[in-house]
Amino acid sequence: MATTMDKIVSLCKRRGFIFQSSEIYGGINACYDYGPLGVELKRNVKEFWWRSMVHEREDVVGLDAAILMHPKVWEASGHVSGFTDPLVDCRVCKQRFREDEIDPKKLDKRQCPKCGSVGSLTEARQFNLMFQTHMGPVEEDASVVYLRPETAQGIYVNYKNVLDSSRMKIPFGIAQVGKAFRNEITPGNFIFRTREFEQMEMQYFVRPDDDEASFQKWKEERMAWYRKLGIRKEKLRFHQHGKDELPHYAKTAFDIEYEYPFGWKELEGIHNRTDYDLSRHQEYSGKDLSYFDDNSRERYIPYIIETSAGVDRTVLTCLVDGYEEEQLEKETRTVLHLHPQIAPIKAAVFPLVNRDGMPEVARNIFEELKGELKAFYDDSGAIGRRYRRQDEAGTPFCITVDSQTLQDETVTVRDRDTMAQDRVPAQELGFELKKRIERNTK
Ligand code: GAP
Repeated sequence: MATTMDKIVSLCKRRGFIFQSSEIYGGINACYDYGPLGVELKRNVKEFWWRSMVHEREDVVGLDAAILMHPKVWEASGHVSGFTDPLVDCRVCKQRFREDEIDPKKLDKRQCPKCGSVGSLTEARQFNLMFQTHMGPVEEDASVVYLRPETAQGIYVNYKNVLDSSRMKIPFGIAQVGKAFRNEITPGNFIFRTREFEQMEMQYFVRPDDDEASFQKWKEERMAWYRKLGIRKEKLRFHQHGKDELPHYAKTAFDIEYEYPFGWKELEGIHNRTDYDLSRHQEYSGKDLSYFDDNSRERYIPYIIETSAGVDRTVLTCLVDGYEEEQLEKETRTVLHLHPQIAPIKAAVFPLVNRDGMPEVARNIFEELKGELKAFYDDSGAIGRRYRRQDEAGTPFCITVDSQTLQDETVTVRDRDTMAQDRVPAQELGFELKKRIERNTK
């Protein structure tokens, strides 16, 4: 059965993954809140990224820069003048569109994609996507600051600080995870395009001649990361940006795309930003941002290879890719095949029945486990229903205490994907589950 966005949105609300922001007030467009399961999933996705980009490497270090930055940063970066989308209005139905998203045939006739009126579209005007606010009590032009539209600039303006304090040598990278804000004209498709979102970005500083080799390497590494996360190979592909699509800072850009229910769309961007950003910041700040290479005895402005992923888009991808309505003999089972490492709950512990001392034993097992991994205790309802609830939450393992447990201190471990059960000594449970979670398959 095809996975639709309606099914994903409904599961997310029903099970507490994702809610519309400010829902009791009617909601605010393109902003979402992560519920109890969603926040665990999102944290795990970020952790999975951080681990592979920072902890498992020697050449990448982390950073956490402020969202509010000196307004000159955004002049230097080109965002004040160039981070715009072409906005057109329909004079009849008042709907707004991005001109570059309108079917060219309709655009020729200035025909509205919503109400169909011919000749009703205005000429495009450039609309800047940055949110503005004011710093301090006076709302005047001099106090304008922006909510960052990408985390990357926080890395560039700190590149010298990191270099001087961590003694990294080129080639090296700086990674950051954090919020970004864009006043998108056409947000939509649930958490795919929102106005407040999170990015996981890594900027890799290289010798100017090494840019293309490094770009190739990072392209492959990033694709491999999604595979490691368990995303299906046939749903992933590269898309190279044509000259007319390139962002203002990039010489070459590839997107990693995923096939969502609404089509192939960008999941991550990999960009060769050349020396554009550091040269501009050098020019606008008046500070020397060049690098002296001890090996080659040369001084140069490093080139930057950027990998820029969306946290929310990765979460959506995991949900869509993992969703299955499996037809069983008597019922349909909804299951989320999340990679165990990102699953919100790793193990749910159940007493088979609420008597004969089983709840006490199960509780003890839960108490032991919860110090080691995210566990959940549930003793309400029939056992089959408890399994189904965990299948929908993407919990990879369910542990059941039954009458045999009382005799030989073993429990059953049920696998979410195969529904197979095997017996494991309760003593070895923590170790056994961790071993299974570390496995690299879904
Ligand atoms: N620093 C480069 C940069 O920001 P981008 O292609 O504009 O590049 C990178 O954005 C990634 O950030 C995208 O691939 C996407 O995953 C995520 N992203 C961008 N805009 C988004 C939005 N409005 N909502 C959710 N995610 C977004």
